[in-house]
Amino acid sequence: MDASQSNAPNSATLTIGDESWELPILNGTIGPDVIDIAKLYGQTGMFTYDPGFTSTASCESQITYIDGDEGVLLYRGYPIEQLAESDFLETCYLLLYGELPTAAQKADFDYRVTRHTMVHEQMSRFFHGFRRDAHPMSVLVASVGALSAFYHDSTDISDPQQRMIASIRMIAKIPTLAAMAYKYSIGQPFVYPKNDLDYASNFLRMCFSVPCEEYKVNPILSRAIDRIFILHADHEQNASTSTVRLAGSSGANPFACIAAGIACLWGPAHGGANEAALKMLGEIGSVDRIPEFINRAKDKNDPFRLMGFGHRVYKNYDPRAKIMQRTCHEVLGELGIKDDPLLDIAVELERIALQDEYFVERKLYPNIDFYSGITLRALGFPTSMFTVLFALARTVGWIGQWKEMIEDPSQRIGRPRQLYTGATQRDYVPIARRK
Ligand code: SDX
Repeated sequence: MDASQSNAPNSATLTIGDESWELPILNGTIGPDVIDIAKLYGQTGMFTYDPGFTSTASCESQITYIDGDEGVLLYRGYPIEQLAESDFLETCYLLLYGELPTAAQKADFDYRVTRHTMVHEQMSRFFHGFRRDAHPMSVLVASVGALSAFYHDSTDISDPQQRMIASIRMIAKIPTLAAMAYKYSIGQPFVYPKNDLDYASNFLRMCFSVPCEEYKVNPILSRAIDRIFILHADHEQNASTSTVRLAGSSGANPFACIAAGIACLWGPAHGGANEAALKMLGEIGSVDRIPEFINRAKDKNDPFRLMGFGHRVYKNYDPRAKIMQRTCHEVLGELGIKDDPLLDIAVELERIALQDEYFVERKLYPNIDFYSGITLRALGFPTSMFTVLFALARTVGWIGQWKEMIEDPSQRIGRPRQLYTGATQRDYVPIARRK
């Protein structure tokens, strides 16, 4: 959409010295306008400078919209609070195709995904090369990258059919690989998916069933994990999604691009925060030690941060965190966990932080990772699996954004520039003559 379709100014004037340039302003359907600087270097010989891309739009997208000040999150225009009551595969369809499916389309999509949930049998041998105590994220990033060695018929990114098959395969196989990473880490046999189970129930069974007895899926818990997947499905141009887009812009195959996204998500400042947040609550240990940790979080000389707090975009309560908190209480209630000490610490920590000037001034609120760790631990997952579950859910967002980028006629290989402050040109001195 360009500026001519709205009454906003359609250009910005940049003046450097006695020269001026008109830069086009482009409007989205909602959210901030953008100043198109694509020709800036050619016109002025200058780059813009925005480390961390706080003020930079890297692409045009129609998938997810976030209003950080209002705490709004829309997937294809639908508020997360409403979609949280749908089911994950319905949200996957919406993210991929742009519209909610009809009943027939949903049934067909479920059928297609279900029939791609198995992985090539040789993949299981791939796992056995790892030590049992390897972090499941290291196993996941490797096994997803290895998919390109098995599924050659969906790596030609110029073929729309192959792009869609690769998307379906990624969504279908990521729970199987995630469950295999978990089973491998605890020395239990891999469990094959079952086609008569829904997506979330299949995943819980692949993680927690053992050959010696029947596994009965608890519908409340599978509903909860399904909702957790919905909350984590996509989030605009976050660090890992931007990684997937940049990797995909070179024409790399989709499996390799998703592996790059998993690697980026692993960091504690991003998807690794759910694991770090639970560890932090354990380190705090009791409600009366909260002030000590609040002070550490405020101390510039202390690298400690309140994990699960703050966000690059949300300067209001992360709408997903509210739903996650509700889901946390639902899960603990269903499991009869009355007084989880970590939940007591989390609730009190949130109460204190939201009154503290330091956090209020910086608009630091709980984000999606603050309550997810307590919930996932109650569901039976070890801390090391928390970011794996985040990656499982985010795979649909990554593959949807990858597909949108490949299908965008204006997309080119991503190649940022820099502000160079290194040595100016100088001559080489052979070592014999160096002092
Ligand atoms: C996710 O981008 C996405 O959309 C990500 C995500 C997604 O769905 O993909 O939402 C998922 O990654 C959520 C965020 C999970 N990370 C954490 O919970 C880790 C803890 N949070 C911080 O590391 C931090 O808040 C970030 C990384 C999330 C955001 O960093 P920013 O935007 O670079 O914020 P900042 O460092 O500029 O902070 C501004 C100020 C600083 O203080 P001053 O220099 O102004 O004095 O706030 C302080 C920071 O020191 N601050 C914190 C803090 N977060 C920011 N102080 C204490 N504890 C914190 N958690």
